[in-house]
Amino acid sequence: MLPPVLLVGMGKMGGAMLAGWREQGLSASFAVDPSLPLSPGPEVTVVASAADLPADFRPAAVVLAVKPQNAAQALPLYAGHRQAVMLSIMAGCSIAFLQTALAGANVVRAMPNTPAAIRQGITVACVGPGVGAKQKALCHALLAGVGLVEWVEDEALIDPVTAVSGGGPAYVFLLAELLEQAAIEQGIPQPLARTLARQTVAGSGALLAASNEDAAQLRRNVTSPKGTTERALAVLMDDAAWPRAMSRAIAAATARSRELAG
Ligand SMILES: NC(=O)c1ccc[n+]([C@@H]2O[C@H](COP(=O)([O-])OP(=O)(O)OC[C@H]3O[C@@H](n4cnc5c(N)ncnc54)[C@H](OP(=O)(O)O)[C@@H]3O)[C@@H](O)[C@H]2O)c1
Repeated sequence: MLPPVLLVGMGKMGGAMLAGWREQGLSASFAVDPSLPLSPGPEVTVVASAADLPADFRPAAVVLAVKPQNAAQALPLYAGHRQAVMLSIMAGCSIAFLQTALAGANVVRAMPNTPAAIRQGITVACVGPGVGAKQKALCHALLAGVGLVEWVEDEALIDPVTAVSGGGPAYVFLLAELLEQAAIEQGIPQPLARTLARQTVAGSGALLAASNEDAAQLRRNVTSPKGTTERALAVLMDDAAWPRAMSRAIAAATARSRELAG
């Protein structure tokens, strides 16, 4: 059973996390969100602002899930919860920034991704100074509600993590879009093109998840010598094509994450 949690920002990611916590069993908790989304269940009371929280509510964790641009204004309102560990999933908000905005609170910085919505996410997290084993374990349990959890000691790694797994679902969805377009160019009717692209991406992801073989071997398993896939891969794997494009894309996103963190 998870202890009481205060969720700040019940949008896509906060809402997905809340759903995951409820599956594990959640003590009476609160969510703050000015758009007052519907509560997902009887154990969660949703209020419009920090001022509406009961004065005696003592959460074990405050989960910060507002957009980064709202952080500076929203965070100081929660600095009074000294007993709680502050778990931030906000992109580009460094541990130093969080600690300053939260008057020196114990903070954990985490980067999840959108497959969290179906408990298939991956989150990478990093503890700030002063966070003890119990608070780290609580954060692990909260993050594990929506998928795998990995911990890093070096906060600087959160920038490339943001580029790889934080944004990664977008690159995979782009692959489905491009595959559909290319199928249409070859004369496949649009509805079938869409089904082929979606199911190929989804089925390949499921096969990768279910297999002990690495991605390169699964790729080779589809590739017969002198066959059609080999011909396509020669185009895609040309150094100037996907290898360089992926490397540049991840480097650009990593640099942007560093910029956002100031
Ligand atoms: N989506 C992703 O792929 C992803 C991945 C990793 C990390 N993240 C991080 O997760 C965080 C949330 O992203 P999201 O995609 O869930 O955004 P979102 O859907 O826009 O959710 C943010 C929610 O916070 C509410 N809000 C705004 N100001 C608030 C305040 N002062 N107090 C409480 N709630 C407030 C918003 O309400 P209004 O709509 O009324 O403004 C909205 O419901 C971001 O910091 C993002 O960097 C997102």
